[in-house]
Amino acid sequence: MTARMLSIAAIALWLVTIAVAVFFFIRGHTRVAPDGRTAVLLASDERDLVLTEMRGMLETVQVVVDGVKTGDMKQVAQAARASGAAAAADVNPALMAKLPLEFKQLGLSVHKRFDEIATAAGSGASSEQLLASLSTQLSACVACHGSYRLDAVTPATK
Ligand code: HEC
Repeated sequence: MTARMLSIAAIALWLVTIAVAVFFFIRGHTRVAPDGRTAVLLASDERDLVLTEMRGMLETVQVVVDGVKTGDMKQVAQAARASGAAAAADVNPALMAKLPLEFKQLGLSVHKRFDEIATAAGSGASSEQLLASLSTQLSACVACHGSYRLDAVTPATK
């Protein structure tokens, strides 16, 4: 094999590696579940972590609605901020790699909208405006739950 062929082979291999990495970055670690949704395949402790975050977001929604009802905007801002982008920043890379790109985008947009709700509550937004944002937010929760579920396929990673 000539040096030229060798370098072409090396470049081809490099491109294949990148293509595979991009493919998995977009698709994540998934399969089609019997109920038609896309099942994200996680280790059981990773699934527990994501579900804990989900329950935190449901609690945020409850406290936000309660705060809007009583006109306590400080409570609204604090609860919304607790589910903001900072709350998701420490998710480990191995788990992130298993989540499909669309799932990551949807998740990030939901965290960002909680930040927007917190900022709006702190800067004089009306109850109607806050409820309108929360309604948009809940549509995103509903959309993701309709498309994805989480299946534990391997025991805890630790
Ligand atoms: C990016 C996708 C996505 C978004 C956005 C999302 N969820 Fe989830 N959520 C899931 C998945 C997947 C599950 C697991 C469902 C399953 O396995 O059937 C889940 C589960 C849950 C659970 C169950 C937790 C448990 O302990 O079983 C709650 C509560 C929940 N989500 C609340 C919310 C709320 C509230 C929002 C919006 C503020 C939200 N989720 C937004 C994907 C999402």
